[in-house]
Amino acid sequence: MIKIPEHIAIIMDGNGRWAKAKGKVRTEGHYQGVKNVRDTAIYANELGVKCLTLYAFSTENWKRPEDEINYIMSLPKVFFASYLKELMEKNIRIRMMGEIERIPENARRIFLDAIEKTKNNTGMTLNFALNYGSRREIVLAARKYAEDVKNGRINDIDENGFAEYLMTDSLPEIELLIRTSGEKRLSNFLLYQLAYSEMVFSEVYWPDFDYKEFDRCIDEFNHRKRRYGGLDES
Ligand code: IPE
Ligand code: IPE
Ligand code: MG
Repeated sequence: MIKIPEHIAIIMDGNGRWAKAKGKVRTEGHYQGVKNVRDTAIYANELGVKCLTLYAFSTENWKRPEDEINYIMSLPKVFFASYLKELMEKNIRIRMMGEIERIPENARRIFLDAIEKTKNNTGMTLNFALNYGSRREIVLAARKYAEDVKNGRINDIDENGFAEYLMTDSLPEIELLIRTSGEKRLSNFLLYQLAYSEMVFSEVYWPDFDYKEFDRCIDEFNHRKRRYGGLDES
């Protein structure tokens, strides 16, 4: 029997190259990418995935041209206007992680509204990493931890305790990380959380990442032997 990972994280990469290959502008790639977020979320929910974390915008993506950033920040509106109703019907809960303060007011409001509307849903959690950077996340966690030691709220902490200070605090362990577009790096994504996750790299650009390619990634995950530093049981 095939095991469906409880928590899958995806670095959705290759929107720009997808567009370029088709002679289109980069923003068209981001638009198709958003449509694929819908398809992938619906499919993951059907498979029984508990949590799907999607890397949508990194703390380093602010280096991009202003026009492109503005376009990307207009996409939450497009996404939720088109699909929030369907996500509700599928019982999907929206969540996000990242430093929300720097996200433009419009996009932020739309996210907070979707989070509020879906907060009692009990199906899959669809977690968007937006203005997310793992180094920043770890620094913020360490700062908060130091404060809690200082004010006497805690006096000792272990790995599990520290993980609660991260932006993934209440989410299950990430079992599978997928990166699309053939790149093989983490680009500041979930550096702490991926310690023992399986990583699967897909050559496909994000807008073309369909359920067949998703199945292939899950199949590859199922062929891995996870040892966590120990020895094979057989
Ligand atoms: C991923 O696609 C989307 C974001 C980073 C926002 P890219 O925009 O990075 O596409 P490529 O890597 O240039 O093809
Ligand atoms: C990672 O992709 C960030 C997202 C997918 C949101 P990038 O395209 O920004 O990563 P690099 O620059 O190739 O490392
Ligand atoms: Mg990229």
